[in-house]
Amino acid sequence: MPGELNRDELIDRMIRVDQAGELGAVRIYQGQLAVLGRGPKGETIRHMKEQEDVHLKTFSDLVSKRNVRPTAMMPVWNVAGFVLGAGTALLGEKAAMACTVAVEEVIDEHYQQQIEKLGDDEIELRQTCEKFRAEELEHRDIGLENGAENAPAYPVLSNAIKASTRFAIWLSERV
Ligand SMILES: [Fe+2]
Ligand SMILES: [Fe+2]
Repeated sequence: MPGELNRDELIDRMIRVDQAGELGAVRIYQGQLAVLGRGPKGETIRHMKEQEDVHLKTFSDLVSKRNVRPTAMMPVWNVAGFVLGAGTALLGEKAAMACTVAVEEVIDEHYQQQIEKLGDDEIELRQTCEKFRAEELEHRDIGLENGAENAPAYPVLSNAIKASTRFAIWLSERV
């Protein structure tokens, strides 16, 4: 079909958006740690941030190795991720956890859609997405176990963050 992406473009787009998303994730957790790092949830958040560091490094290595053009939005996500993480953390621990749950739910769907598109010609990339998806689900569960749903204005906060995350994914695939 005209306008449809060929296989290489599709894979490039996946690596581009995943690098961007993982940068966003690292920055969200860094923002949360700037506010809550010394508090009772500090260790929990640091654990998630350390997993995100590995996710980001993996996709940044793939960007170099496969000559993918990174999204022009990287500098924006660098700032926006931190602001989102620190901003929700300033609303309290539960709001920070609500942010984690909202973002990780969207990322779970996103990785799942990618996994479905990746065939046996991209086993390694598919396994990477599967592993990271499992860790994102772990992060979502940590958020739920730590009172995300008791955050003030949870549905509004959650829907706003999910919509922003989906828009960020859409942009990062294209720009
Ligand atoms: Fe991640
Ligand atoms: Fe995550």
